[in-house]
Amino acid sequence: MTERLYKIYYEIPKCKVFADIGCDHGYLAKAMLQGGKCNSVILSDISAKCLEKARDLMRDDIAEGRAQAIVSNGFEKLPKVDCALIAGMGGEEIISILLKAKNLPEKLVLQPMKNTDKVRKKVVELGYKIVKDYTFLVGKIFYDLIVLEKGQDSLSEEEIKFGRTNLELRPSAFINSVKLKIENLSKVLNNGNLSECTKIQVTNQIKELEKYV
Ligand SMILES: C[S@@+](CC[C@H](N)C(=O)[O-])C[C@H]1O[C@@H](n2cnc3c(N)ncnc32)[C@H](O)[C@@H]1O
Repeated sequence: MTERLYKIYYEIPKCKVFADIGCDHGYLAKAMLQGGKCNSVILSDISAKCLEKARDLMRDDIAEGRAQAIVSNGFEKLPKVDCALIAGMGGEEIISILLKAKNLPEKLVLQPMKNTDKVRKKVVELGYKIVKDYTFLVGKIFYDLIVLEKGQDSLSEEEIKFGRTNLELRPSAFINSVKLKIENLSKVLNNGNLSECTKIQVTNQIKELEKYV
């Protein structure tokens, strides 16, 4: 498993039936079983070809009934599970999967690659509360990780934009991700041929971000 997958693995809660939606390689589901964090796993992917990798990895577990491999668009063909992971996809794809689901699990772990703000807003509307929501760094890439369970919650605009745990605990990965955004916006400001109006907008964005570093 890669460092990113380990970080995700540690945040997945113990459960009975775990589903990895868009599992591709299947490493996380395998780790969940081996680590005793669940009784059984569902490997699922929209692509039969991708799912084949997971099927190969977990051939024995499938044969012995601890794992099932199902080609499915999101939750469409899945039985009821109590915890699901959706990792490594864009936020809009994750939202579309959640909106189509007839039976959403009690617990969800999401690692969107972009549009995390949209995901935060939607999951709360869908009846989840935030357990953790923070940024982590692997190599040079910042990732967002959201751990959820069913319940009521409401998020401020600031929490939607930055993630609740980031605001509460200010982890170094969050601070550094904000610094990087400031650096990139400063480059745009200094190099670009910007209109006065855009310059003011970018300057204001930088000032806004500077509050967090
Ligand atoms: C970039 S890979 C991420 C694999 C793994 N989850 C990870 O984080 O390393 C995205 C996977 O999601 C699958 N996928 C994309 N849209 C999907 C959907 N609507 N339902 C199920 N799987 C989907 C793709 O086929 C691909 O295998």
